[in-house]
Amino acid sequence: METAVEIDDLERKIRDLLSRRNAILLAHNYQRPEVQDAADLTGDSLGLSIEAAATQAEVIVFSGVHFMAESSAILSPQKTVLIPRPDAGCPMADMITRESALDFKSRYPDAPLVTYINSTADVKAVTDICCTSANSVSVVNSLDARTVLMAPDRNLAHYTARFSKKMMHWYDGFCPIHERLTPDEVKAVKSKHPDAFFIAHPECRPSVVDLADKVASTSGMLDFVKKSPHKEFIIGTEMGIIHPLKKANPDKEFIPAAPHMVCANMKLTTLQDVYDCLLEMKNVVTVAPDIRQAAKASLDRMVAVKRTD
Ligand code: 13P
Ligand code: SF4
Repeated sequence: METAVEIDDLERKIRDLLSRRNAILLAHNYQRPEVQDAADLTGDSLGLSIEAAATQAEVIVFSGVHFMAESSAILSPQKTVLIPRPDAGCPMADMITRESALDFKSRYPDAPLVTYINSTADVKAVTDICCTSANSVSVVNSLDARTVLMAPDRNLAHYTARFSKKMMHWYDGFCPIHERLTPDEVKAVKSKHPDAFFIAHPECRPSVVDLADKVASTSGMLDFVKKSPHKEFIIGTEMGIIHPLKKANPDKEFIPAAPHMVCANMKLTTLQDVYDCLLEMKNVVTVAPDIRQAAKASLDRMVAVKRTD
């Protein structure tokens, strides 16, 4: 763990290198507080993908988990995408392979496959359209099909199906961090904080979503809390989001729904890792051209969908 002085020093050195390399540092809302504070932009999977595609910078340093940096590399082939910790994976993304995605599709040959952005390029390449937690409802409803498949997150699919008239079939994946949160844990926190408003991520189990006053992506939570008249919130997602929530709303209180809501992969990246990867221009994220092209088509279709959720 870096000290406050080391953090300041590293942040200054990172800013200096970023400008010398015409680079931009993007950080997901679950990253360590000091990494979020050093970043040019923070956000959810959808926001960061859009920013990565739009930036004029030549180099993108993506502080998050691998599928996020990989999505940037797919969307921006002319840019160099670096990931400070290439070992930061997403266990949910690893629950589906190209083969298992094809097998799932083969069982419903006429139904388009919507794949959560939490997936590898190989899986995106055999997908009709991607989605994130911020736009899954809009994506599914945009499809000209009566039956729609969704992978890999069964919980996001279950949540999406509540707002769609489509017949949906889903793959049996899940996020181990969100899946662990139980309705009993939420009820216990609610009884201690009866006035608190409960916000859950759609990766939570349906029985937890049932208890939520609001369901949103991580950036959706930030937008919602900023505008909300409520003063106290129970947060049903990874703990990292509490840092930007507190920063933007110093007068409001945030209570984690459970103490175990920590994604170890999201916490791997330190400022030192960011500095080292920029200094040495190492850990370049690459995707084979044929896979990249097919995966890009799925991401491009997603970005083109007009959001209604
Ligand atoms: P968001 O896109 O809502 O930030 O979620 C990403 C993620 O990995 C949630 O676990
Ligand atoms: Fe993957 Fe869950 Fe971590 Fe998000 S919180 S990166 S879905 S393991």
